Amino acid sequence: MPATPRPAASPVPVRPDTLAPEAVIVAGGFGTRMLPLTERRPKHLLEVGGVAFLEHQISTLAAAGVGHVVLATSYHAELFFPVLGDGSRFGVRLSYVTEDEPLGTGGAIRNVAGALAPEPERAVVVLNGDVLSGHDLVAQLADFEQPRDGRAVDVSLHLVEVADARAFGCVPTDEGRRVLAFVEKSDDPVSNQVNAGCYVFRRRVVDDIPAGRVVSVERETFPGLVADGALVVGWVESAYWRDVGSPAALVAASRDLVLGTATSPAVRRAPAPAWVDPGARVEGEVSDGSSVAVGAQVAAGATVRGSVLMPGAVVGAGSEVVDSVLGPGVRVGAGARVHGCAVGDEAAVPDGAMLEPGSRVACGSTA
Ligand code: GDD
Ligand code: MG
Repeated sequence: MPATPRPAASPVPVRPDTLAPEAVIVAGGFGTRMLPLTERRPKHLLEVGGVAFLEHQISTLAAAGVGHVVLATSYHAELFFPVLGDGSRFGVRLSYVTEDEPLGTGGAIRNVAGALAPEPERAVVVLNGDVLSGHDLVAQLADFEQPRDGRAVDVSLHLVEVADARAFGCVPTDEGRRVLAFVEKSDDPVSNQVNAGCYVFRRRVVDDIPAGRVVSVERETFPGLVADGALVVGWVESAYWRDVGSPAALVAASRDLVLGTATSPAVRRAPAPAWVDPGARVEGEVSDGSSVAVGAQVAAGATVRGSVLMPGAVVGAGSEVVDSVLGPGVRVGAGARVHGCAVGDEAAVPDGAMLEPGSRVACGSTA
């Protein structure tokens, strides 16, 4: 009998006694800090580097050997499928599980348990749906599968160092990287090492989260696991990392992807000073990592630097748009100045207007 051809090697070093990992993306938050850009859609679908944000995460999971990704959605849940479909274009199977009322991060993870394969020891990657990370997920998964003193790891948390930890979950570890505590958003942070929003759970730990009620994985599940002596370990890595939860962070992440400071398997273009969709019309100057989506226009004499123009946004002659996001259908008139602003869908910036730096303009309004 001819030898059976070997299947292509998986990028993940899956041990014979373990099964391929699945993943959950928690993507049901309201995106309040991203307003007005999230007035009509979840932050997870905003274009960053020219593609919907979740495409970066789904492509990263696919590249790490994950075959099934479950999206835990709530706010504007109906908008995800038309953008992301069944996952086949990313090489994964995508499932959707929706909370009628948001159940919190832990409640959302528990709520998708029925969509996951049943094996209790299987690895389940969980991502916060707003983090752009270049860390080595394959290495984190391999580390998760290394027993410590003969004991299987229960949960692994990607951890990063930040200068100001107050907006994050603080996660001190011992010299063996075992997690000693988990303190979410404190004014007096116990360490600069914080939760980066990429976890690997043992499948059985997901089942232990209480079902049918609001649970915060950060305020309840992780502190509870540590207190109960579960084996929670940190995966400390300082690759590119950014929480894309505000307009300023969106501008920065998009610029980083266009310029090549950040990389993503969803962005296969070479780094460039700007990205302009073939269906956009640019006659003015576009630079500093700007991205210009389909149907957007930049008139002659206009300058767009370090900014994101969503589909159909128009910048009039002689205007200056810097470090800003213009939502879909925004119209900036001639000779206007927009610096560090977030302008909601279909809002208008009149001719000659000088917006206060940092302004947020509500959808459909006139600045
Ligand atoms: N399905 C669902 N349901 N998703 C939710 C819910 C919910 O009720 N609440 C929040 N999420 C999703 C958000 O949409 C987002 O993708 C993710 O959970 C994290 O929520 P954020 O609101 O972005 O949290 P954060 O940025 O303040 O803090 C979190 O991320 C930090 C790292 O970026 C925490 O996990 C911190 O500990 C962490 O340091
Ligand atoms: Mg966040």
